[in-house]
Formats: sequence, C-alpha cells, structure tokens
Amino acid sequence: MNVYICPVCRSPLDDTGKTMRCKNGHSYDISAKGYVNLLRAGKTQRGDDIEMISARRRFLSGGHYAPLCLALCDTVKSIPYETLLDAGCGEGYYTEQICALFDGRQIYGLDISKKAAEKTSSLCKTAHICAASAYDMPYDDDSFDIILNVFSPLALDEYKRVLKHGGRLVMAVPNPNHLIELKQAVYESVFVKEMKSTALDGFDLMNERCVEYKMELSNSELKDLFMMTPYYKKTGMKDKQKLDSVDCLDVTASFTVFDYVRNN
Ligand SMILES: C[S@@+](CC[C@H](N)C(=O)[O-])C[C@H]1O[C@@H](n2cnc3c(N)ncnc32)[C@H](O)[C@@H]1O
Ligand SMILES: [Zn+2]
Repeated sequence: MNVYICPVCRSPLDDTGKTMRCKNGHSYDISAKGYVNLLRAGKTQRGDDIEMISARRRFLSGGHYAPLCLALCDTVKSIPYETLLDAGCGEGYYTEQICALFDGRQIYGLDISKKAAEKTSSLCKTAHICAASAYDMPYDDDSFDIILNVFSPLALDEYKRVLKHGGRLVMAVPNPNHLIELKQAVYESVFVKEMKSTALDGFDLMNERCVEYKMELSNSELKDLFMMTPYYKKTGMKDKQKLDSVDCLDVTASFTVFDYVRNN
C-alpha cells in the first residue's frame, strides 16, 4: 500500500526504491539514510535543530521517559491497526519502540526537521520516514488507523483528513506540574498553568491515563532536559546559567496519554 502523495500536485507517488515520482514528473530522492524529503520548496521550515535533537537523544537514551513510552505502547497495543503515523516523530525514540511491537504493521514517521527525519530513518529501518510539515502532509486521505502525537504540533485538520474513519489519535501531553522543579531552579517565579480542556473538534475521547513519577537527574541530564524543551530558546543566558550550580535534582515527570477516536 502506498499512501504518499506528491507535495506539489497531490498525485500518488510511486516508490522506485531510490526515488519517489508522480505522474507529472515531480521526483524526490530517498536519502542514503532512508528518509524522503517532501518539504515544500520555498516555505520557511522550522523544527528542532541538531543541538536540541542531540540533547533529546542523550536524555531519552537514559530511560527517563521509559514509563511514558510503555504507556504509549500499551495504548497502541490495545487498538487493532495496520497503519500508524508518528506525526512530529523527532529523532525516533517512540517510533523505534512502536516498530518493535509487531511485525507486519506499516509504521510511518514525519518531522519538519530533516535532521530529525534522518535520525529516525537510521534508527527505524522498517519504517517509512519523511521530512514534511504536519500542517501539509504528503499522504492520501484516509490512510492511517492511528496517529501518534508526542509533544508535537497538533495539526487537527490534517489529522482528520489522513485518518481513516474511526481512526485513533494517541497523544501525550505534559501535565501542569511536569518539570516543575526544573522550572523553579531556572525562573524567579513559576506559575502552574491550569490543565487545558480535553475536548478536540472532530474527535471523541475514549481513554486517558496519567503517568507521573520522579526522575533523579544529574547536572548534565538537567541541562539536556532543559535544552529539549520549548523554554530553552526563550530563556536568557543569566537564567540558563543558574543550572550550572545544581549538582542533581529530583524532577517530576507528569504526562497524560489521551486516546481519541475520529468521530466524523
Ligand atoms: C518536542 S519535539 C517531540 C519529538 C518526539 N515526538 C519526541 O517526543 O521525542 C517536537 C517535534 O515536532 C517537530 N515539528 C515542529 N513543527 C512541526 C511541523 N509543523 N510539522 C512536523 N513536525 C514539526 C520538531 O522538529 C520536533 O522534532
Ligand atoms: Zn507531482
């Protein structure tokens, strides 16, 4: 089954092994690492840079988010599916574990960062990985049984388009007290935000599961963790340097895993 469509003319893409090509002659090379770049030329593409990607890889390989990964895999295992898309897959920590769950399932991953797509494709040899925006996905309508979203932009209209009828959105979001001790170590005052409404247009919530525990983190782990958060780039040097004097810290990890079904 080929779900890829051309980002320019939206015709189906044929995969020749080294290239993907549409009937109108648009072609896209599959990189040596195995991902295909389907980013629209001329659009400003943001996404995580190599510094953030490397920090996340170091931090995640320490197993600190393994309980979350387990909860996500349990949720995915409870759903019958053939095709799953990890939307905003980063450097593939969760994608790899999902690929290891079963043989024969079609696992796709997409990230706007080429570096992230490259890392995921070198880690997940059986998965189909591309660089593209979640807001303009190079997939045909009704392609996936499950979309996985772990801390990534929520492109609901595109999710509804590419999910099959009755398809599921499995989504991990941080709870208001997630990383509270890290924030307190960096900022003068920290506001604990209210939990947002769980309602999503076009989806019904089937299940939710809270995953909460403490992580005992060394100085370098704290710095990697901070660097992989969206706060890092918005924080001034003076505040960032406060972490230099923290040897180790017990930090709360708190997430909710939501399981939604597409309802129209
Ligand atoms: C916080 S990271 C999470 C990565 C991965 N899911 C994880 O938890 O390890 C968010 C990811 O979304 C990607 N991203 C940001 N904007 C995007 C977009 N418009 N389309 C696709 N990916 C996007 C970033 O490049 C980054 O890899
Ligand atoms: Zn085309």
